[in-house]
Amino acid sequence: MERGIHEQPSSLQMENTYIPELPDGTEEGMFLALDLGGTNFRVILLELSNGALIREKVKHYHIGEELRLGCGERLFDFLAECVSDFVRSHDLTGIRLPLGFTFSFPMIQKGLDVGILVTWTKSFNCPSVVGRDAVQMLREAINRRGDTHVEVLAVLNDTTGTLIQGAVLDRRTVIGLILGTGSNACYMERADRVQHWEGQRHGEKQVIIDIEWGAFGDNGVLDFIKTDYDRKVDDNSLITNSFTFEKYISGKYLGEIVRVILVKLVEDCVLFGGTASDMLLTSGAFTTSFVSLVEQDTVDDSCDSTSEIFDKLGLSYDPDDITIVKYVCETVSNRAALLVSICTATLLERLDCPDTTIAVDGSLYKYHPRLKSWMNKYIRLLAPGKKFRLLLAEDGSGKGAGLVAAIALRLKQRFSDT
Ligand code: GLC
Repeated sequence: MERGIHEQPSSLQMENTYIPELPDGTEEGMFLALDLGGTNFRVILLELSNGALIREKVKHYHIGEELRLGCGERLFDFLAECVSDFVRSHDLTGIRLPLGFTFSFPMIQKGLDVGILVTWTKSFNCPSVVGRDAVQMLREAINRRGDTHVEVLAVLNDTTGTLIQGAVLDRRTVIGLILGTGSNACYMERADRVQHWEGQRHGEKQVIIDIEWGAFGDNGVLDFIKTDYDRKVDDNSLITNSFTFEKYISGKYLGEIVRVILVKLVEDCVLFGGTASDMLLTSGAFTTSFVSLVEQDTVDDSCDSTSEIFDKLGLSYDPDDITIVKYVCETVSNRAALLVSICTATLLERLDCPDTTIAVDGSLYKYHPRLKSWMNKYIRLLAPGKKFRLLLAEDGSGKGAGLVAAIALRLKQRFSDT
């Protein structure tokens, strides 16, 4: 982290988000938020009064594989089309709307409204976008249509949105953490420690830093924990040799790690009588939601869900197979919990706050039955004496984007006055 923030070689990007403050309760008016990161794109209208959300309208748009892997302009044209559809269906066509854009991919930020894509992650890999500014591409697509009056004021990451939303729920929040399809964290850093700062400083005391810890280990520093199973998962992934840490821990990969282990156990003739089904041999067939269900069985001392999953995958099994698969799911989940806790504890030590709230969101965190309790245990063990709590801050990537647009508007007015 220290190397990253000083712009020295590091697999932690430690990106400046240029967000120097949290909501202060003065946020007022209508804001649009866009949320792109998974297979669902969302457009959200937020109405804020005294910093509180009084009305919210949301529409989901599915992003198919042809858009996620196809030409970048087409993807952004589709996003603009969704904005236009949303604005029209809510009779907002003539209204000037400030917009916050949650673009949950690693970006180099040159300001609050400039985000140059470093690499795609998760399920996206559109050629010709890496190295380009996502805000500029969005503005151009919106202008090509010319049928709305939205003003893109800020681009942010889902962790940032989660921190911001967490701060509304609990003022002690200084860390935002995502454990979903991908994994990442951000935190409030002292501004004087941050080297990369383009444009003028305005006496900022602090600023949110997007760690991009999904890429931790891309320089080889985490190879010592890499197993043959991890190597297989990486080989089958959309972008290989990239996002090492994320591939050890996040929802897009946990199920696949389990599947690869199960296949090896079948090959060794210690599972399913040495016979795998075609489904089990199919990449992606054992989802992370299956891992959560098997873990729930372990917690409940049941085997109902696990048997159902085996039936779905066309496997013949006996009680020993259930015990083995439960053990594999536990081991892989526990490693993820431990790895995330090591990074979170290190962050807590760095922050040196007397009492810290960590805002967390993401499907893995929400649906895994014992990730949270393991994290509480491990973080306590690894950052002894640090007072903290994990707070579920749901939909930070949506609500947070609206709040960041409001903060951006406030900063714009303040800086133009000075
Ligand atoms: C990936 C993205 C990161 C995002 C995370 C969680 O790691 O690179 O920006 O925060 O997924 O969605």
